[in-house]
Parts: sequence; C-alpha cells; structure tokens
Amino acid sequence: MKALVLEGLNKPLIEREVEKPVLNSGEVLVKINASSFNRRDLWIQKGLYAGIKYPIILGSDGAGLVEELGQDVDNKWNGMKVIINPSSHWGDDYRAQSKDFRILGLPDNGTFAEYVKVPVDNLYPLPGHLSYAEAASLPLAGVTAFRALFKRAGAMKGEKVLISGVGGGVALFAMQFAVAEGAEVYVTSGNPEKIEKAKFLGAYGGANYRNSNWVDDLKGQAGGFDVIIDSAGGPGFKQLIELANPGGRIALYGATNGNVPELDPRRIYWKQLSILGSTMGTKADFESMIDFVQKHQLLPVVDKVFGFNEANDALERISKSEQFGKIILSQES
Ligand SMILES: NC(=O)c1ccc[n+]([C@@H]2O[C@H](COP(=O)([O-])OP(=O)(O)OC[C@H]3O[C@@H](n4cnc5c(N)ncnc54)[C@H](OP(=O)(O)O)[C@@H]3O)[C@@H](O)[C@H]2O)c1
Repeated sequence: MKALVLEGLNKPLIEREVEKPVLNSGEVLVKINASSFNRRDLWIQKGLYAGIKYPIILGSDGAGLVEELGQDVDNKWNGMKVIINPSSHWGDDYRAQSKDFRILGLPDNGTFAEYVKVPVDNLYPLPGHLSYAEAASLPLAGVTAFRALFKRAGAMKGEKVLISGVGGGVALFAMQFAVAEGAEVYVTSGNPEKIEKAKFLGAYGGANYRNSNWVDDLKGQAGGFDVIIDSAGGPGFKQLIELANPGGRIALYGATNGNVPELDPRRIYWKQLSILGSTMGTKADFESMIDFVQKHQLLPVVDKVFGFNEANDALERISKSEQFGKIILSQES
C-alpha cells in the first residue's frame, strides 16, 4: 500500500510503498478516504513530542471504509463507512488517562496511508450528515475540544466563553460546540479575517492577540469570561487570568506559545479560579462528542483539502497558522 512515511527528525513526509498491515484478533482494516492534520503531526516532525520513533506513518484522524475484519469481529462492520477514535487504553479513571494511553500516528502507524489497522472498539459509523472530509476533521480535535469545554470547564448555556486562537482545529470545534450549547462566545486570533469568520459562525465578538490592547478590547466587549479555553499558554496566559470572571474556569490543552513565564497567585485564589489541564478524552467523551455533533447537525470547518502528494504543503500551512479549521489529506483519486 502507499503511505506517507516520516523517516527522521525534520525530514519531509515521503510517499513509500509499505506492507499492508496484518490484522490481529479484534482488529479491522480501514481503507482511508480522508484524514486530517493536527499540530501534533508537526510537533512529531520537529522532534517536539514525547516518545518519538522513526520511521512512522503519521495521522491520528481518519474516515473510510472497513475492508477486512480480523478474527472475532462482528460481520456487521464489513463494508461500513466509519470514523476512527484515535486513542485507546485510557484506563479506568475518567479523570486522567493511564500510562498505557496511546494515540494513532505515534506510537502506532497512523492514517496517512491507504490502509490503517485499528481495534474494532475504535470504530464508529460515519455520522450521516458528514462527508468523509468533514468526518475526518473530527476525531482528535473534536474530542479534545469537547472534554476541555464541557467535561473539564463545565461550560453552560448563557455563560460567557472565550476561545483563544480560533483558527486552530481544536479551538474552532470548541467555539462551534459552545455556540451550539447556547453560550455567549468570544474568540481571539492573530488574524482579523479569522475573527470575522468566527462571528459568521456564531461568535459574539473577538480581539486580535497581536494588538497591544487586546485585553481591554475584550473587556470592553464582554466584561469578563466564565470559561476560557486555551491552547497557547505562553506570555498571554497571564492575561487570561485577568479576563476570567470570579469563579471562572480556564481549561488548557496545549502550549503552542511555550511556557507561561509568570503568574500572579493572588489573582488566582482571590478570584476563586480553576485552572484545568485537559488532554483528548475517554471513549465515553468521544461518543458524547459524536452524539453532540449529530444532535446539533454540526458541520466541521474544512480549511483546505490536500492530495497525497501535497502533504508537506499542508504541514507548512499549519506551521504558519494559516488555516481556519481543519486541513484534510484526501485519498480520493
Ligand atoms: N492535550 C491534547 O489532548 C491536545 C489535543 C490537540 C491539540 N493539542 C495542542 O493544542 C494546540 C493546538 O492544536 P491544534 O491541532 O488545534 O493546532 P492548530 O490547528 O495548528 O492551531 C494552532 C492555533 O494556535 C493559535 N495560536 C498561535 N499562537 C497563539 C497565541 N499567541 N495566542 C493564542 N492563540 C495562538 C493560532 O490561532 P490563530 O490562527 O487564530 O491566530 C493557530 O491557528 C497544539 O499545541 C497542540 O499540540 C493538545
């Protein structure tokens, strides 16, 4: 089968002919129709991720057709259009993943290939209102956004919610989910066009984090925020503490902008703030996310679709944060 292989640190993805996966009991072979990129793929290419090994086929997200069943797999899956839950082995504690937690695309070969093998437990029927590309947008980013927003920060209808860096894949899902829930949603972005696009999708307002007055700008628009969802970290995180309402919850799932240089503990305790780390989600979180998307008939925002031979252009687009929504790798010929 053909696959995009990462053969070493800072190397481009290279198309190679590799062995088709051999199924173990309980596994299925999915012919991938579309997959999507996450910043994780870029971090792995740049050596900025734990447990890196080469060569590896990247790609955590995929949607496609079940083509072969391993032993002990119910025949109902044969020929089904599916979406793949990229993680497994969360463990028994819903509060945090076990040390055995795994994500497709490292350490296991991922979806940037013609075929991927996954445990049948990781499969879900393709939501009927989604195309393959839209469905492939959803898994990793969707579950991360869903858990951070609802399961960790407990966002509710009517609350003021701030989503930082809305151009990002996870951030945009968090915004769409919060809007669907009936929250009053604001966003930040480094690109004013993305703020306008977010407003078109239901955000009340937003501010450009590159402008020196972005904090006052947001205070002027919203006052403060009950819930803040952030993946940037970095120096700007301090301002999120300032923007939080008393009793506010800040869920953090990434550190795109690096470490947070300094925090004022007085503001955190005096305002009774909760700062909540969040990573992907349990199987139940994934199922709730899919149910939520179906219930609200949400459509993931596809930024751009790249062909198999354009994968390195896609990574380049992510590295420059040019995208609004998810970048797709299509295998339709
Ligand atoms: N813990 C987890 O389970 C988990 C899961 C998924 C992702 N992550 C992490 O979360 C981050 C985002 O992942 P992703 O796949 O959604 O990435 P992505 O699609 O590449 O989005 C990254 C976005 O970050 C925003 N950004 C950059 N600098 C910023 C700043 N100073 N302040 C606010 N926003 C800033 C940009 O938004 P604008 O373009 O709007 O400026 C950019 O589009 C990554 O660090 C990733 O590793 C963690």
